[in-house]
Amino acid sequence: MESHLKQIKDKALEEIKKITSSEELKKIETKYLGRKGELTEALKKLKDLAAEEKPKMGQLANEVKLEVEGFLNKVKFEFQERAEEKAGHVLDITLPGIKKSVGHLHPITLIQQQVVEIFSKMGFLAWEGPEVESDYYNFKALNIPESHPARDMQDTFYLKDHADSPRRANGEAGWVMRTHTSNQQIRALEKYGVPLRAIFPGRVFRSEATDASHDATFYQLEGLMVGKDISVANLIAVMRSFLKEVFKREVKVRLRPGYFPFVEPGFELDMNCLICGGEGCKVCKFSGWVETMPCGLVHPRVLEYAGLDTKEYSGFAFGLGLTRLAMMKYGIDDIRLLYADDLRFLEQF
Ligand code: DAH
Repeated sequence: MESHLKQIKDKALEEIKKITSSEELKKIETKYLGRKGELTEALKKLKDLAAEEKPKMGQLANEVKLEVEGFLNKVKFEFQERAEEKAGHVLDITLPGIKKSVGHLHPITLIQQQVVEIFSKMGFLAWEGPEVESDYYNFKALNIPESHPARDMQDTFYLKDHADSPRRANGEAGWVMRTHTSNQQIRALEKYGVPLRAIFPGRVFRSEATDASHDATFYQLEGLMVGKDISVANLIAVMRSFLKEVFKREVKVRLRPGYFPFVEPGFELDMNCLICGGEGCKVCKFSGWVETMPCGLVHPRVLEYAGLDTKEYSGFAFGLGLTRLAMMKYGIDDIRLLYADDLRFLEQF
């Protein structure tokens, strides 16, 4: 029995070594391990052995079976691998894994969140408001009556068929895509009353000719603080704290007189251009300064539109160009990159 088992084993291993196709492999497997296979038959005979021989022979038979099975499986695996390689499925566990790309926030959203957080710490509430706005909130209540030339500077997209569209005398629609986030000033004063500290971030629209620093859609953040005894000193203090927080350094600023119908006095706050360091580039129009923030004390007429007693209340307002701030902060020299959906650009943030 012992030599018979060994003989089967040697013969089987020899034949397995010579296998060249998976068909042959199947045949050999059946020949030895199938239901009527040589090895299976030999194992069946174990029961006829004398009791004292059974354990030893049983063990040997098992070992032979395992060895033949193991060798067959090894060859089977090699055949599979070769077939997969042929089909192009190569398993190479040393290759680096495929990285799943995860989206992230747009640079303007990042800036907006940061700015909102800074102002929140100073006690300002944030409110976005509507992008489609009535003529009243966008212009009239901000002391920009219908015939005012300031409307030309903010030429925008008028909505023809807005459901609630009140028609102007000349028949034009009274609803616009808001030209600025200042539309929120009166809305917020009506909703929250005074004293009020609020910021209004959001998207605004102008009928602009596009160039490196202008686009028809961009982002602003309006700020408004109204209460008792609010003066230019408060305005300057808030602006300084804010810019220092955003740029993590002292930024040079200058104040120039500026005109906006809804502030009096009005200013232009400029900061030195962080792209060129003040030497002059296309973003700062080669002046070294970038208009960062128009601002001023809220015009009494605006306060009146909000139903406030102008002897008792005063306030300041500012309009921050979020898009421009993002360009300064990240060193982006063309506004169009921000809206072009080019991943090579966006993935840098
Ligand atoms: N709304 C103005 C614009 O978009 C910016 C602005 C100017 C806002 C002066 C203000 C301000 O609050 O005081 O051009």
